[in-house]
Amino acid sequence: MADVPKDLLLEIKGLEELFTVDTAKLKDITEHFISELAKGLSVEGGSIPMNPTWCMSMPTGDETGTFLALDMGGTNLRVCEIILTDQKSEFDIIQSKYRMPEELKTGDADELWEYVADCLQQFIESHHGGEDLEKLCLGFTFSYPATQDYIDHGVLQRWTKGFDISGVEGENVVPMFEAAIAKRGVPIKLTALINDTTGTMIASAYTDTKMKIGCIFGTGCNAAYMEDCGSIPKLAHLNLPADMPMAINCEWGAFDNEHKILPRTKYDIVIDKDSPRPGQQAFEKMIAGLYLGEIFRLVLVDLHDNHKVHIFEGQNIDKLRKAYTLDSSFLSLVEEDPFENLSETGDLFQNKLSIVPNRPELELIRRLTELIGTRAARLSACGVAAIAKKKNYESCHVGADGSVFNKYPHFKQRGAQALREILDWAPKKSAKEEDPIEILAAEDGSGVGAALIAALTLKRVQDGNMAGILHPENFR
Ligand code: BGC
Repeated sequence: MADVPKDLLLEIKGLEELFTVDTAKLKDITEHFISELAKGLSVEGGSIPMNPTWCMSMPTGDETGTFLALDMGGTNLRVCEIILTDQKSEFDIIQSKYRMPEELKTGDADELWEYVADCLQQFIESHHGGEDLEKLCLGFTFSYPATQDYIDHGVLQRWTKGFDISGVEGENVVPMFEAAIAKRGVPIKLTALINDTTGTMIASAYTDTKMKIGCIFGTGCNAAYMEDCGSIPKLAHLNLPADMPMAINCEWGAFDNEHKILPRTKYDIVIDKDSPRPGQQAFEKMIAGLYLGEIFRLVLVDLHDNHKVHIFEGQNIDKLRKAYTLDSSFLSLVEEDPFENLSETGDLFQNKLSIVPNRPELELIRRLTELIGTRAARLSACGVAAIAKKKNYESCHVGADGSVFNKYPHFKQRGAQALREILDWAPKKSAKEEDPIEILAAEDGSGVGAALIAALTLKRVQDGNMAGILHPENFR
């Protein structure tokens, strides 16, 4: 590191100690994770919800039909029309994106459902205006923890990703959604309520039969996989065949809410305390895109205010003091700065924060982004390794989506390296050799995945497997 004074080097070393998760710790976290996955499936339950989703088969690639998908993630609202064509594993998609207005995220329930119904209505009018439509089947990707007694039902357990809309937690969201679209006479019937992770797994399995797990590393963080009903004690009372598959939406963002094992720093503690749901989503708050920029910001403010070496000495850091002013794309840009003298990072700080870091400070900033990004990637590998170990998957593909996975530099390689350490793989013989378990870019889970799950549900009803179907009339 070029010309960094000794005091600042010591600060950097301190940060390295704080944010580095070594192999032994990764292994401990993974073992604890495995037991927590099982606990979530038990009658008593645990921190990780392990929600049965009533998506009960993998696709074959031969599914066909036209479906609508509504994707309500953390940042945008998307409406899609998906045609699963006669060609194996092929689909066509048209879609429109609508930005989720920030104030909606903390507004009230009626405004939310009105907005959702407006977007759907606009989409139908611009693509099918004037047509005499039969009701279209819709897969609704609602990417928050929901208890599902049926596939067309979902009680919101709690908001995540900074949402805080009153009157929805503890309620079944389907009738609220249906009432809003009925009011507008939009010709749609909800066939399946799905989570983005389940959608990701199913969409990826449509084109790749080695896919076993779906993950999202985006605004939030979570995974889904296929369990056998016989291994889900909390469903035992339903007497489903033991070998019947059931997709489980883990909601692993809630891993270690009781703070037993994750190496939390004082910055993680502040993030939690100041969030709309303190005590929730402990794992997610160390990994997901919503929080990475905030962790970074908190460290810098602390170094400026409280440490022996005051960084940005004599400069006005008011802009940096504003919570959530930096998102994870800011960290991505710092990590991507190609110049030896980190001049792009300097420009970023000047433009966004009106701060002019000196050269040693730039070195610290770069190292800090690497540490935060690496910690996120390594911790997420523990979740993947835990599911693979629980299911005895020695080799498989894992489909991953989300802004952090797709855009954060080195996230994939860092995750792959951590998996190698946790699972004790021998060194690769050549660069071409595949890892036994590979985390790959997924197909569009919230769109194509939602359509596929709707198609699989219709097929299941036709075949007479009515487990987890609340309104059979919605499937005709
Ligand atoms: C939600 C999950 C979702 C994940 C990724 C989390 O905050 O609880 O349901 O899958 O974000 O979008």
